[in-house]
Amino acid sequence: MTFDLFENQELPPLGKEHLAPGAVLLRAFAYADAALILEQMALISARSPFRHMTTPGGYDMSVAMTNCGNYGWVTDRRGYRYTDRDPITQNCWPEMPNTFYQLAINAAREGGFDQFQPDVCLINRYAVGAKMSLHQDKDETDFAQPIVSLSFGLPAIFQFGGMLRSDTLKKALLTHGDVVVWGGDSRLVYHGILPVKDGDHRLTGPYRINMTFRQSG
Ligand code: SIN
Ligand code: FE2
Repeated sequence: MTFDLFENQELPPLGKEHLAPGAVLLRAFAYADAALILEQMALISARSPFRHMTTPGGYDMSVAMTNCGNYGWVTDRRGYRYTDRDPITQNCWPEMPNTFYQLAINAAREGGFDQFQPDVCLINRYAVGAKMSLHQDKDETDFAQPIVSLSFGLPAIFQFGGMLRSDTLKKALLTHGDVVVWGGDSRLVYHGILPVKDGDHRLTGPYRINMTFRQSG
């Protein structure tokens, strides 16, 4: 068996799964670019390190976060917001690599959104046991623009509900290279991530990495 053949057999199939009106799961859409994206992420986190932010209610998030792009999403006791500087380094957030930008706009287009110009990439790092409670992404000003979410490394269960926290939840297992795009009628749905199970991924080790692209303004 040649190396190339082996590599080809490893490639999971691409596929588009309908989650809800305006929401699709693009299986393996980021798979081919994963190694490059994760290398570029390491350069970003060397400049703006992963940190556990505090919610307005005073809880430390289990997910470690950083950002790249013109703006970054932050939370502290003063609330949720976008800032043009990293509050830890006081510098601008690292630039969004073109690979990230192109992949995000290609995924948005595949999901039916062709005007997407993300200026924020929030990078979430989940260690084993980390989770993201149900929430809505509503700190942006233009809800006509979608959220594009890339998953790498350890798998996790994504919960995707409705406009009310109490609405029925759909569950989808997100694996390395999967991309979810949600906008339109699904733009403000509640969503979250169940605690990440123990594992070891060849590219991320004992972590799940998620990148969400947003157009802040
Ligand atoms: C988020 O909602 O910001 C994160 C989603 C994910 O980790 O897949
Ligand atoms: Fe979110």
